[in-house]
Amino acid sequence: MNQTMKAVGIASYDGPNAAMIGDFLRPAPGPGEVLVRVHACGVNPLDWKVCDGSVAAFLSSSPPFIIGADVAGVVEAVGEGVTRFVVGDAVFGQVGLLGGFAEYAVTAQNRLSKKPAKLSFAEAACIPVSGSTAHDLLFKDGQLQPGERVFVQAGAGGVGHYVVQLAKDAGAYVIATCSAGSAEFVRGLGADEVVDYHAGPFEQAVRDIDLAIDTVGDTILTRTWAVLKPAGRMNTSVPPTVPLTHGDRTAIFSVGKPDDDGANLDRLGQLAAEGRAKPRLQQVFAFADVVDALELSKAGHVHGKIALQLID
Ligand SMILES: NC(=O)c1ccc[n+]([C@@H]2O[C@H](COP(=O)([O-])OP(=O)(O)OC[C@H]3O[C@@H](n4cnc5c(N)ncnc54)[C@H](OP(=O)(O)O)[C@@H]3O)[C@@H](O)[C@H]2O)c1
Repeated sequence: MNQTMKAVGIASYDGPNAAMIGDFLRPAPGPGEVLVRVHACGVNPLDWKVCDGSVAAFLSSSPPFIIGADVAGVVEAVGEGVTRFVVGDAVFGQVGLLGGFAEYAVTAQNRLSKKPAKLSFAEAACIPVSGSTAHDLLFKDGQLQPGERVFVQAGAGGVGHYVVQLAKDAGAYVIATCSAGSAEFVRGLGADEVVDYHAGPFEQAVRDIDLAIDTVGDTILTRTWAVLKPAGRMNTSVPPTVPLTHGDRTAIFSVGKPDDDGANLDRLGQLAAEGRAKPRLQQVFAFADVVDALELSKAGHVHGKIALQLID
């Protein structure tokens, strides 16, 4: 007998206001997959971009579908060949680009990691997309070395606040842009310098950067070349709307992805448990208030992360 579940779906690309909680079929795990009873979800700009159709080209299906990428919960069932988890394990991970804002979500085992006991489900659910993207921007694509000068655009945002912490933990000197109201927050994450991007052009306050991490995009990315050393590098988390080349250099558009063996998620969980780099939650919304959470993300001024709570 097919079982149903509550989930957040969209029927068409009409924006986050049109996202609705409805009844959907509960998924079943196939070979190598895990079914998670979701306790909390992390909210990312991806989720409202899915709703308004601006990332439709990256999706493997068309509406109607369930939105949501980041989850934390408890393993309900495992498919054939699953070795990393057993029923009852508390886990967190990124289920893909869709399917996470639901009572149950199914995903490949390498997209999950064991939830550190010290973290709440809401905290753990806010690790995957922001953490793995920050990790790839700095290390996989950025080849960050200890002692390098790192400049982060939007150091208070979901990706940016993770970049600040991971770069500092790796021994970098970290400079971040943010508004005056979040300067204390960003310094508290470990930034050596903060630059108020409303106070004047950041180019006047920053120079000699080895590695710039852009999380704003567009003209901000273009202007950031000016603060780099001659051989300085730049990576961005934002799908390109401007050329990524500057002379003989090219910025890398990094897409945060789980490793085949789940190693980067395991590492992010460990760093969070040790308090070296962890998501900072601005607000936790009830599942029923998902539209408010999506609208808050879309407004573009989240400091840290926001989450949805399904089960305490
Ligand atoms: N490639 C990938 O795999 C991937 C993964 C995650 C995210 N992304 C993309 O990366 C971008 C950032 O994501 P996110 O989760 O970090 O977004 P977010 O949490 O919504 O970012 C909000 C933050 O951006 C700050 N901000 C906005 N404009 C700024 C500016 N000009 N200078 C400095 N700070 C500025 C805001 O600060 P104030 O409130 O002070 O304005 C706020 O703290 C989005 O486009 C997202 O879709 C891509």
